[in-house]
Amino acid sequence: MDKNINSFGKNIRLTTEGGSHDEFITAKISGFPAGVRIDREKLLKFMARRAPGNSAFATARKESDEPIFLSGVDGNFVTNGDEMTIRIYSKNAKSSAYKDVHDIPRPSHADYPAIVKYGRDVDLRGGGHFSGRLTALLCAFGGVCMQYLEEKGISVFSHIYSVYDIKDKEFSLTEVGENEKNMLSSSLFPVLDNEAGDRMQEKIAEAKSRGDSVGGVIECAVTGLPVGLGEHMFASVEARITEMLFSVPALKGVEFGRGFDSCKLYGSENNDPYVTDGKRIWTRTNNCGGILGGMTNGMPIVFRVAMKPTPSIASEQDSISLSKMENTKLSIVGRHDPCIVPRAAAAVEAASAIAVLDLVLDSKNENSAPANENKQGGDRVESSRLSELRGVIDRCDRTIVATLAERMAAASGVAEYKIQNNLPVLDASREAQLLEKIRMLAGEEYAEYFAEIYAAVLKTSKEYQQKMIDNSRSEEK
Ligand SMILES: Cc1cc2nc3c(=O)[nH]c(=O)nc-3n(C[C@H](O)[C@H](O)[C@H](O)COP(=O)(O)O)c2cc1C
Repeated sequence: MDKNINSFGKNIRLTTEGGSHDEFITAKISGFPAGVRIDREKLLKFMARRAPGNSAFATARKESDEPIFLSGVDGNFVTNGDEMTIRIYSKNAKSSAYKDVHDIPRPSHADYPAIVKYGRDVDLRGGGHFSGRLTALLCAFGGVCMQYLEEKGISVFSHIYSVYDIKDKEFSLTEVGENEKNMLSSSLFPVLDNEAGDRMQEKIAEAKSRGDSVGGVIECAVTGLPVGLGEHMFASVEARITEMLFSVPALKGVEFGRGFDSCKLYGSENNDPYVTDGKRIWTRTNNCGGILGGMTNGMPIVFRVAMKPTPSIASEQDSISLSKMENTKLSIVGRHDPCIVPRAAAAVEAASAIAVLDLVLDSKNENSAPANENKQGGDRVESSRLSELRGVIDRCDRTIVATLAERMAAASGVAEYKIQNNLPVLDASREAQLLEKIRMLAGEEYAEYFAEIYAAVLKTSKEYQQKMIDNSRSEEK
């Protein structure tokens, strides 16, 4: 299986590796800003919302989903600008339930196209590479992105909009904000209306008791964005968010703002009128869901995603035997989510946060900087740019210090050699040659500045060497 296919991002690059029942799954991320402190407890709490075995309406497979950062952070959980590697070990995989899927593919799971495409040996244990398990990696990295975005005043949160035919209250397209975020963010079953939530859970339990499953809709909001993120055509905000969203298995549809319902309105009803108080600009309604012409318009981005019913169900279904090429019946054993929606809500938030971070990082690229930074968010993008640049400076400083230490050690080695071989330690012509070389390497713009810095480096190095010579002479005496 081509690993590079599983990559995402324009400014960051996220690649995932591994399948559901592998010993571990891994995410590698390049391009994430340096200098970001990760709150590990907060990240674990977020990931627990997606983890299996977390409630009666989730699969019984229990995994703690603990992310291990193999690189990209220092000991204090501050990102260092290097490639980030996040690994999650699988501890509770039971592969025996999947021995038949290579012959009798599960309806509406990935088995049949995967066998045709990759051959009979393709790993389908627990859904293999096509499993919801891979969304643990999305949540690990997405949780980090959410923390970064929160510092910039950008929030991503969601609720269960519906399960089967039972509906929660809707987000206000114009007013959704911190209240909803605080109410929903730590819930394993995030709803605005608890009574609707209870009925949803009853519906899931009822489907489960009959060996069946149900689907539903997740509504997600992104608030605090500046005007002008995104581009026309292929790099539209919708395109970049949905590209990421469709990495969540079982997600079958997305609508932004009023979505399909706007087709039942007149233009005069659907258009979002502009309003100003002389300082700020906003729209009275937000039927466009915060995106116009592929760009953010400063209003909340609100979208809904359709999650299909879990394909693996216990009740008997029609399938085929590939070896016998005949129709047959199938009853799926194993541990499955009777409804994917509650766990997927965290995955949808994570996927959105990753895509939004990638969009925010566009401001690194002058050509795609927001044309009109509405003050609702413009200064936030500014401060994001500032902290990003500071991260780069931190990284440079670390490299400079390490290189200088290496240079001092080499210089002292040279001094030692010269002392042992009775050679003159200080060499003025070599010093002049070095400074000339530095001027040349630095180029016209920086030649004078770097020559000055190097003169200081050479002076310090000479002092250090002199100290060594003095020490060795006093030892001789
Ligand atoms: C969090 C999460 C959990 C899932 N759990 C299951 C499950 O227990 N059983 C199952 O058959 N599918 C589960 N799925 C869905 C399948 O992975 C998905 O339907 C399958 O790979 C086919 O892909 P498609 O539905 O996107 O076409 C889950 C998906 C997510 C996001």
